[in-house]
Amino acid sequence: MRCSGLMAERKLIVPPDDVASMIDTAAGLMELQETIFPGGLVAQDQNVIEFRQVTKRFGTVAAVADNNLSVKAGEFLSILGPSGCGKTTSLRMMAGFEQPTSGEVFIRGQNVTGVPAYRRPVNMVFQHYALFPHLSVADNVSYGLRQRTPRPSASDISKAVDEALAMVRLDGYGKRRSYELSGGQLQRVALARALINRPAVLLLDEPLAALDRKLRRDMQIELQNLQRDVGITFLLVTHDQEEALSMSDRVCVMREGKIVQTGSPRELYDRPVNRYVADFVGKTNFFKGPSTDETLSVRPEMIEIAASVARLPEGLAARVPVKVLNRIFLGEHTEYRVASEALGEFMVMAPRKSEREAGVYDIGDMIAAGWRAESERILPNT
Ligand SMILES: Nc1ncnc2c1ncn2[C@@H]1O[C@H](COP(=O)(O)OP(=O)(O)OP(=O)(O)O)[C@@H](O)[C@H]1O
Ligand SMILES: [Mg+2]
Repeated sequence: MRCSGLMAERKLIVPPDDVASMIDTAAGLMELQETIFPGGLVAQDQNVIEFRQVTKRFGTVAAVADNNLSVKAGEFLSILGPSGCGKTTSLRMMAGFEQPTSGEVFIRGQNVTGVPAYRRPVNMVFQHYALFPHLSVADNVSYGLRQRTPRPSASDISKAVDEALAMVRLDGYGKRRSYELSGGQLQRVALARALINRPAVLLLDEPLAALDRKLRRDMQIELQNLQRDVGITFLLVTHDQEEALSMSDRVCVMREGKIVQTGSPRELYDRPVNRYVADFVGKTNFFKGPSTDETLSVRPEMIEIAASVARLPEGLAARVPVKVLNRIFLGEHTEYRVASEALGEFMVMAPRKSEREAGVYDIGDMIAAGWRAESERILPNT
């Protein structure tokens, strides 16, 4: 399909193979639910998706390397990692657009390895909007339903479209063309088009990447509310750690095709398994570790500052004089960059409250910093 200049400008990019498969997915759902997955709803503790030692090679590149992952029913799980680490490839194997080179994929306890996309109860919202520019919003949303055999009645389709548009807060937008919508609205149409099929799992591949910061924040909240309301399992791919931490029940951190750690946002933040996770999830300071294979990590909000070493609280494991190199006011926090002769440069997050007690320090001031033993994490450099 070709896009006109205006469409292209609005990022209405249509990857034809994926859209065709997605439409097939919708068309195959009814049949699928009756054949491979009888019995309807999934128990809350059941794994909706499971990877068992899944590897995907493209030539010599292992895009996904020997991964195990379980996603529970109703869970909001994010896959987080830098560009090229295998996030999209993982999602495409769940959706059935790619098949693993080795290992097995299970959906609701059934081995679906080798089963094509149109026979899986999952829907994917792509990295790009992938809407049909010549169709109205309602026709885009109902496309999958209209391909089903037998085809639902016009009134059933219209009702389902209204419900799906209401879910994404686009009531009354059915008659509009896609080029009459904003980026956020387009992304919500893409969501409605996936939700109308009532998939067991919705796979979201960086759905907010094209949006500006404010809209992105609004959509993050809407996505979370939506997931709570519809109870569908959401799997979100992102390389934005703030997005992953703030939205998900659990986060899976990947590097070079491998899952490094999976856990709740708090677990990843407080108990990262290695330096890579600590660095990727939140801000932290790294200092020389007890051995060459280890690093000492201290989160900036765990560091206390005072006008002098003597004024630091009792019971700290580290107490050093530091010079203030930089100061950034961030509303409820101030971020200080400081330098110590013994430890080098590091970052401190001082909450407004402590500033009110202790005062604000200026660039060039000689002050002191320290932290408690329990704030220290010794992490392998892997
Ligand atoms: N069809 C393909 N043929 C060959 N190599 C591929 C193919 N698809 C992906 N790759 C390679 O596999 C690796 C993982 O790609 P993938 O698209 O999964 O990354 P990603 O984590 O989604 O990255 P991004 O954040 O940039 O979207 C990359 O090295 C990529 O070049
Ligand atoms: Mg990707």
